[in-house]
Amino acid sequence: MDTKLYRIEDIEKDFKAIEEAAHLLRQGQLVAFPTETVYGLGANALDGQAVDRIFKAKGRPNDNPLIAHISKREDIEPLVLGVPAKVYPLIETFWPGPLTIILKKSSRVPAQTTAGLDTLAIRMPNHPVALAVIDKAGLPIAAPSANRSGKPSPTTAQHVLDDLNGRIPMILDGITPCSVGLESTVLDMSGGVPTILRPGAVTLEMLKEILGHVEVDKTVLKPLEKGQPPKSPGMKYIHYAPRAKVIIFRGTSLDRITKEVSRRAKEYVREGKKVGILATDETTHQYKGQDIISLGSRKNPASIAANLFSSLREFDDMGVDIILAEWVEEKGEGLAIMNRMVRAAGFRIIDA
Ligand code: TXA
Ligand code: MG
Repeated sequence: MDTKLYRIEDIEKDFKAIEEAAHLLRQGQLVAFPTETVYGLGANALDGQAVDRIFKAKGRPNDNPLIAHISKREDIEPLVLGVPAKVYPLIETFWPGPLTIILKKSSRVPAQTTAGLDTLAIRMPNHPVALAVIDKAGLPIAAPSANRSGKPSPTTAQHVLDDLNGRIPMILDGITPCSVGLESTVLDMSGGVPTILRPGAVTLEMLKEILGHVEVDKTVLKPLEKGQPPKSPGMKYIHYAPRAKVIIFRGTSLDRITKEVSRRAKEYVREGKKVGILATDETTHQYKGQDIISLGSRKNPASIAANLFSSLREFDDMGVDIILAEWVEEKGEGLAIMNRMVRAAGFRIIDA
């Protein structure tokens, strides 16, 4: 299959491409498009066969449910059994935006979309291309991140092409980049205490301001214990992993972290390994002689979040064998950053 790549400069001027994408989606085909978090791989969320194509193209385990994307608030109602009162202020405050809300699903949503669960994850993305395509298709669009399963999520159309060229008919690119760079916060509102299953740019602190009590699932920074069923099936799989082996260095003293990273880097280089260091603006000057990428300033976690996935892919392009990464404080967006980083590292963490 040939993969068409269209660049959208202006929604109105380039509406033909939006129409073509919407047409493909209505026919049960797949279209990758940008959102403010990462690129999504879309299909009609109400068509089980279309959704099956997503799992095939990504190589995604079919017990991992998808998020339905909508373009208008009122589109939520037909997809769920009911919207609890406390969900409305969340929608008011954070939609369109990087918050996914899990509710009890209605019978219109096929089992493929939710991987057999009786709940559905829903979000309204904040990106003009995503909103235009969903709106034009007139359907809820199931869309996981548009990467091959297991790899870091794509934050550019080129990343999507690298992973899915020849496997999907169309990729839309353009207007604004994925400014957030990490996937949405997944919040379970389907009953009991509101629980963050996957942290994102809508932080625990922000949600607490609106909901009061909010829990964070135990597996956010820790591997799932054997025999314990995951609340969010996605969390049990290898995730966000570049080809290179990632090791994280954790500690309260940045000085100790950088010294330990430097020491280990030298050891690996002596063993003939190509080492990449994932640093921050505050620490880059401490390292010498290796390939170093700064994720941004520790004072600005949003920039670290925005650069994480593309930096992991950049190290792969450079042919790095081992990536040594620094822990960042897990408050605010830091929790989302570390949730992705510990999974990219397969939970290999060294205390410095
Ligand atoms: O920012 C995002 O959320 C991106 C863009 C494209 O919107 N999408 C995305 O989708 O990250 P995906 O499929 O890569 O991640 C969806 C996550 C998975 O961890 C999945 O297990 C969880 O949401 N999830 C989906 N439906 C769920 C449900 N009903 N119950 C629990 N977890 C669910
Ligand atoms: Mg994903």
